[in-house]
Amino acid sequence: MGKEIHTLTDAGATLDPSPAELMARRPYLTADPVCGLVLEDVPLNAIADAEGTPVWVMSAGVLRERARRLLAAVKDSGLPLSVHFAVKSNDHLAVLRILALEGLGADVVSGGEFARACRAGISPRRVIFSGVGKTDSELDAALMAGVAQINVESAEELEILSSRASNLGCSAGVALRVNPDVDAGTHEKITTGLAGNKFGIPYAEALALYRRAYELPGIKPLGFATHIGSQISSPVPFRQAYARIASLVRDARAAGLPVEIVDCGGGLGVSYRDETECSPDAFVGAIRRELGDLDVQLAMEPGRWISAPAGMLLSSVILRKSVTGGAPFIVIDAAMNDLARPSLYDAWHGLLPLAPHLLHADIEPAHLVGPVCESGDSFGRNRLLPHLSRGDRIALLDCGAYGSVMSSTYNARPFAAQVLVDGNRWSVIRPRQKVEELWTTEQMPEWLMPEPASEAG
Ligand code: LLP
Repeated sequence: MGKEIHTLTDAGATLDPSPAELMARRPYLTADPVCGLVLEDVPLNAIADAEGTPVWVMSAGVLRERARRLLAAVKDSGLPLSVHFAVKSNDHLAVLRILALEGLGADVVSGGEFARACRAGISPRRVIFSGVGKTDSELDAALMAGVAQINVESAEELEILSSRASNLGCSAGVALRVNPDVDAGTHEKITTGLAGNKFGIPYAEALALYRRAYELPGIKPLGFATHIGSQISSPVPFRQAYARIASLVRDARAAGLPVEIVDCGGGLGVSYRDETECSPDAFVGAIRRELGDLDVQLAMEPGRWISAPAGMLLSSVILRKSVTGGAPFIVIDAAMNDLARPSLYDAWHGLLPLAPHLLHADIEPAHLVGPVCESGDSFGRNRLLPHLSRGDRIALLDCGAYGSVMSSTYNARPFAAQVLVDGNRWSVIRPRQKVEELWTTEQMPEWLMPEPASEAG
């Protein structure tokens, strides 16, 4: 069993930071005595008034600030290290465009993500295509567009890619994704670098497969890639993984096989509650220490560290359900179909009320739940919250990564609206889905169609 990502406060209500503590660590949020909670220069109540709830809100300013901090750490290190945003964490075109303008490339894991990255203006030459199973059509589309690098995860995939590239008369730049068998110490559902995980090529087989890559038509071997998991706080597992990759690079070169690149993956953890954030300096430091003297082009694939703090989910209290002798249930209009992380990984998301008077109110334990018909539709038991009543609004924090991208329409709940804030401007970047749109792409078999109405009198 891996550990929980962020343990919910089930036993007691002692672990929630206060609103003041949450805000102190998030300088892009301020409390206005009249408007309440403000993101950059936009009162969040103005967005909720105009668009209703639930609504996702992304901050362009936070995205830029995080991208710049990463790039500054890279620059300071002097390493030849390119940054490829993990599109899976947030694939909205506006998010990708903001990051492309900051100079980031993309890491994609499907044909859909590849198309999105290109559509947002990221050159295929700046795209890395990862993933444990890419279909023929996904490989063909990426090859024809001139994708920079395909991370191959198995011997079988290498043979398939060789034949697809040969058929198309092109050459695929390939990194072998190696499973270094390192425990990232993160939640079992998001650890990827342990032997037994489905990801990557077993370390002991990587060198032989790299040699094989040199023999195959349509393959241009570039080097190695690794990614050990997500929400990793400490640089130690990164260092362990990169040390193993470094010795693989040396072994390959000793065997006469050139190595030009090492892709270091992503996985930098953020602080949702009180976890230590993995700083860009610590991450880049781990890379420099283990791989810095290898004379290779380096790449990284961060997602969460850039996008998580930039997003939040606004929601309204539908009702407050009292329980005799226990904490009440606060039923909000956002649910597990919107933000799946708490129900999937017991993830903890900070919570702030929007109204000015609630930001400084006394707090009390309450169970925060959505309306979906599953017990797992919970944002935490015994959360310490201000006294919330029907109609009060809250912001669930740090939802910019693995938030809207993991939404579904379960319980026939339409996709929530999405808004982008940028300084004092804000704009809807995806309108709320209408209920009728839930079935516009469904088709009724002919034999279930109603008979045309009879005209007989
Ligand atoms: N590269 C590869 C090959 C990956 O599989 C991932 C994430 C990343 C990069 C980006 O990792 P990040 O920097 O975002 O940690 N849905 C889960 C997280 C799944 C991560 C999957 N792979 C969650 O909500 O916590």
